[in-house]
Amino acid sequence: MRDDVVICRCEDVTYGDIVRAISGGLSTTEEIKRILRCGMGPCQGRTCSRLIARIIASETGATIDDVEFPVVRPPTMPVEIGVMADEHHED
Ligand code: FES
Repeated sequence: MRDDVVICRCEDVTYGDIVRAISGGLSTTEEIKRILRCGMGPCQGRTCSRLIARIIASETGATIDDVEFPVVRPPTMPVEIGVMADEHHED
């Protein structure tokens, strides 16, 4: 794969960025996520996490089952204060 192929479209992280990170000592999707921000975009890694795991497996000689996926947290949404106030008044 060419180095300029974009793996994480949300954060504009390329294959070359990820391979260099792995060469620099990173070996888990969580480490790569924290350094390169891939997986922190609007899709929350739904698009790129499996691709990154496959690159890690390929570069380290591990199997895809050996690569841990990053922790996924649900996206937060702003809530109007009135929504919480209405719930409080139901008692
Ligand atoms: S493509 Fe990587 S976070 Fe969306």
